[in-house]
Amino acid sequence: MVKLTDSEFLEFVDYMHKNYGIDLTKKRQLIEGRLSNMIERKGMKSFGQYMTSIKRNNREEITTLINKLTTNYTYFYREENHFKYLKEVILPYEEKNNTAKVINIWSAGCSSGEEPYTIAMIINDYFALKKSKWKIQILATDISENVLLKAREGVYSEESLSKMPPSFVKRYFLKTKDSKYEVIPEIKECVTFKAFNLMEPIRERNKYDVIFCRNVMIYFNINTKINLVNKFYEAVKTGGHLMIGHAETIQRDQSKFKYICPATYKKE
Ligand SMILES: C[S@@+](CC[C@H](N)C(=O)[O-])C[C@H]1O[C@@H](n2cnc3c(N)ncnc32)[C@H](O)[C@@H]1O
Repeated sequence: MVKLTDSEFLEFVDYMHKNYGIDLTKKRQLIEGRLSNMIERKGMKSFGQYMTSIKRNNREEITTLINKLTTNYTYFYREENHFKYLKEVILPYEEKNNTAKVINIWSAGCSSGEEPYTIAMIINDYFALKKSKWKIQILATDISENVLLKAREGVYSEESLSKMPPSFVKRYFLKTKDSKYEVIPEIKECVTFKAFNLMEPIRERNKYDVIFCRNVMIYFNINTKINLVNKFYEAVKTGGHLMIGHAETIQRDQSKFKYICPATYKKE
């Protein structure tokens, strides 16, 4: 087993924090446990040697690394309070006041697509026959190319749909030959998937009505989180919302967002 020395550990933690915002200060065992076999299989003798190859910025190598250190766990209709709020507060407001009839949503850290597709289904269900009058744009981004491949494919196991209302399963999925569930084209076309590292500057020209960044910032240390929330503040329209994971919090002195209800914030 390849051992992680103290200096390699510090170098690794510093590099991952500076480049990907991931806080690994308390994860020495996890790093060793999840990476050392892979490093050995690559024929490398030390973490130092592996770090040198990572620093060459080989995208595939970095994606594998991020996949090993973070979790992509997600499912449809996760933390449904947000979808209730979208349906009962945000969409009625937009319907009344949004004369341009364009809704921009960003699912930041979308993993394999369950979150942005759930959002598309809620919006589709809300507008129903009136949907053709609206332009619904859902941008879904993640750092990991692997999860994005799965997201674009849009095929899921029955288990990941277990929290969905059965009427949604019936309406928005097609059963495949091998008993999986594929998202219907009408929903797929509402979502654009792109690779994006949340540590990079946000360059989109559009401002968002809602940003979902749920269960992503758990990996980030406090300063990285504050910087990211401030970037989200700039990227959201006045009156727009930021949704974070229910296990995450933003303190009052950390951002200009106003707390609305658990894990829901607004730019006023
Ligand atoms: C646990 S999943 C959350 C999925 C979904 N938002 C949810 O709540 O179910 C966290 C995702 O964040 C992504 N992630 C972690 N660090 C990132 C970064 N710096 N930039 C973009 N995505 C990142 C991971 O690749 C992973 O897919």
